[in-house]
Amino acid sequence: MNTNTDTGRQSPVTAPDIQARKGVDDKICCITAYDYPSAMIADSAGVDIVLVGDSLAMVVLGHRDTLSVTVDEMVHHTLAASRGVSRALLVADMPFMSYGTVERAMETAHSLMGRGRARAVKLEGGTAVVPQIRALTEAGIPVMGHVGLTPQHVARFGGFKAQGKSVEAARALIDDAQAVEEAGAFCVVLEAMPVECAQLITEAVDIPTIGIGAGSVTDGQILVYHDVLGLFDRFVPKFVRRYADLGEASRQALVQYCEDVRRGRFPGDKNTLYMPEDQVAQVRKLKVKKKK
Ligand code: KIV
Repeated sequence: MNTNTDTGRQSPVTAPDIQARKGVDDKICCITAYDYPSAMIADSAGVDIVLVGDSLAMVVLGHRDTLSVTVDEMVHHTLAASRGVSRALLVADMPFMSYGTVERAMETAHSLMGRGRARAVKLEGGTAVVPQIRALTEAGIPVMGHVGLTPQHVARFGGFKAQGKSVEAARALIDDAQAVEEAGAFCVVLEAMPVECAQLITEAVDIPTIGIGAGSVTDGQILVYHDVLGLFDRFVPKFVRRYADLGEASRQALVQYCEDVRRGRFPGDKNTLYMPEDQVAQVRKLKVKKKK
């Protein structure tokens, strides 16, 4: 953890800081966030990377998959999240079909970093996106790779299915991760694959691997904010550990609120504004007529 020796405050985490943590005991801790409060809570909890994931399509916007989120929506949420982050590295996802060519990738990264204030971008894919990763990194843009179950390819996979389950499939994923590294990515997400496959990839690259559903062998872990806190109930992947049930806690709180309103118990004295005493006597004398 970097600390500024003059102020004693923790310095912002950078992409090179993350890259330098390959193989160290202290694992890299990442979480998604999509707005000011979630990013602020994640940052103050001490995470190293806040990812504005395109999973926002599902957990925030209610879509069935990640395919319909747009660059403008990602920019909107990234900018909101940027206001809540002071230490963590803020990474934004490049949405589906926004990096099909090198030119499109450059434009999208420009929007996410220039308008959204992200400090790095993430894109999905292996050997197929090498030209895009190379061009972005050569332009000074830190890139996080993402291989394995890449949700933007859900139609080709036939659903949200684990990848790398055979020797050939594992070999292809190792090639993908190495291609992403060679193209210049500073770290790579490994999603939904057997731990044996994640282990091989982690040993085969010199950049940190960040796992989600890839066992404990990776250099770091990432989960979706709403899964960790129990705010998304459509489905919970097996690899998620729920640390709180804020969805149910919020529902209970709102049931209580409705009851208090309906029975006249809210607002109470403490939630009510009163006039200064010298005004009260006079205001009572005001004659107010209904307008017809
Ligand atoms: O969109 C997302 O949230 C992600 C992470 C889960 C890695 O890509």
